[in-house]
Amino acid sequence: MDNLSTSDQPVRLAVVVGSTRPGRRGPQVAEWLREAATTHLGERATLEVVDLARFGLPLLDEPMPAAIGDYRNSHTKTWAATIDQFDGFVFVAPEYNHSMPAALKNAIDFLFAEWNNKAAGFVSYGLNGGTRAVEHLRLSLAEVQVATVRSQVALGLFTDFDIPDMTQPGTFAPADHHDEVMRRMLDELADWALALRLLRERAGR
Ligand SMILES: Cc1cc2nc3c(=O)[nH]c(=O)nc-3n(C[C@H](O)[C@H](O)[C@H](O)COP(=O)(O)O)c2cc1C
Repeated sequence: MDNLSTSDQPVRLAVVVGSTRPGRRGPQVAEWLREAATTHLGERATLEVVDLARFGLPLLDEPMPAAIGDYRNSHTKTWAATIDQFDGFVFVAPEYNHSMPAALKNAIDFLFAEWNNKAAGFVSYGLNGGTRAVEHLRLSLAEVQVATVRSQVALGLFTDFDIPDMTQPGTFAPADHHDEVMRRMLDELADWALALRLLRERAGR
């Protein structure tokens, strides 16, 4: 048994890849964020990439609403056990038709308690930085009791990616000015993830 209090232990953060289509740009962005966050947060956090595409979730097929907590399907239980491990999340989310990808909304809808009293930050991308996806994400996440931090990295398809051919993912090449806001977002996220972990522990969850 160690003598560390929970506030001394690193916060467990997931970098959630929020798109699932073949040829998506999300994994490059997620890997950039994971590497930068590992360097910036050091011993304050552990980081893991959680790629939605690997879970193969169907459109919501649970008979009970997630808030009841009676999950029937093995894919739901696997997804729940994954999300349950973390104190906070960075959602790497593109903008699809002025909102988040349907696969990401669906993945949020599958669970409830596993999201509650946790924190989230965002790295969005799209023609205009993907900001409209994040506005919708903030609303949905509030309903599952995820606290979302203010600072947000908004990447432009024409300024932060090299895409000579729109049918290909191209190469992620983020402008340097994103580094400062990314560090700020990570600091806010690590602080809130820790505060909310203490809250959950005091409540016995
Ligand atoms: C179905 C769909 C809808 C899109 N709608 C928007 C949009 O409303 N605004 C925008 O800025 N980009 C939009 N885009 C462009 C995406 O943001 C861009 O293709 C991005 O790379 C998609 O993320 P992904 O590569 O991880 O799938 C859309 C792309 C798709 C596939």
